[in-house]
Amino acid sequence: MIYLKTPEELELMRKACDLASRAMGEIAKAVAPGVPTHRLDTIAREYILDNGGRPACLGYGGFPGTVCIEVNEVVVHGFPSNYTLREGDIVGCDLVAELNGYNGDMCYTFPVGEVAPEVLQLCKVTKESLYKGIEAAREGRRIGDIANAVQTYCEHHGYTVVREMCGHGIGRKMHESPEIPNYGRRGTGPMLKSGMCICIEPMINLGSRNVVIEPDGWTCRTRDRKPSAHYEHTLAIHPDSTEVLTTFDYIREALGDRFI
Ligand code: MF3
Ligand code: CO
Repeated sequence: MIYLKTPEELELMRKACDLASRAMGEIAKAVAPGVPTHRLDTIAREYILDNGGRPACLGYGGFPGTVCIEVNEVVVHGFPSNYTLREGDIVGCDLVAELNGYNGDMCYTFPVGEVAPEVLQLCKVTKESLYKGIEAAREGRRIGDIANAVQTYCEHHGYTVVREMCGHGIGRKMHESPEIPNYGRRGTGPMLKSGMCICIEPMINLGSRNVVIEPDGWTCRTRDRKPSAHYEHTLAIHPDSTEVLTTFDYIREALGDRFI
């Protein structure tokens, strides 16, 4: 069942997504070598709570944090921990803020200090592929058009697409129908309709596409331990346009000329 949002619900989605975006801006200010990843989690949790929201990942299926922390080879769903970030790492931060019953979901992979050019390029192309997916996400087109746009762009650059994890619909629940894969064929899958809210979230690897789940039951990493990048926006489909509800603007403000 795909829930189409009313204008009133879309307004609430905008507010939840703005809260998620601002929380990510606070994380951006703090990312640096020597910072334990649990500090990024605390910053986001406190910011969301102080602004009347609920950290939706915390306790979701037993997940132990506000932010999924994805260092280097971690693809998704890593735990915040005592690990201190090192120069040359990349750290994906994936968070969901719930506000007034609606959810905003986003992810950004931050370089920590100076990062190897090939890893920085992986991040850049993954972020660009998110925007390729967004361009394909128009009323009347299909989920497979988004999936194919992401896949084609990333594979053209020599990267591989994680297949086990997908984007998703979003609204009152963090995960709603439909699933939004990052690989697939044009013209296939459910049709995009005005009022749909979806999350596009490419998870793209430098090496092989294969992943393994760690014994903690959550942490998903690349099998070859090469790096993986992950970016995500929440969008709303309108009759003649697509609105990106989350924003990386607060990240840009925080990072200045370090923003890539
Ligand atoms: N954006 C992530 C996803 O869609 C958020 C996961 S929260 C968790 O899967 F609690 F499930 F980890
Ligand atoms: Co998501």
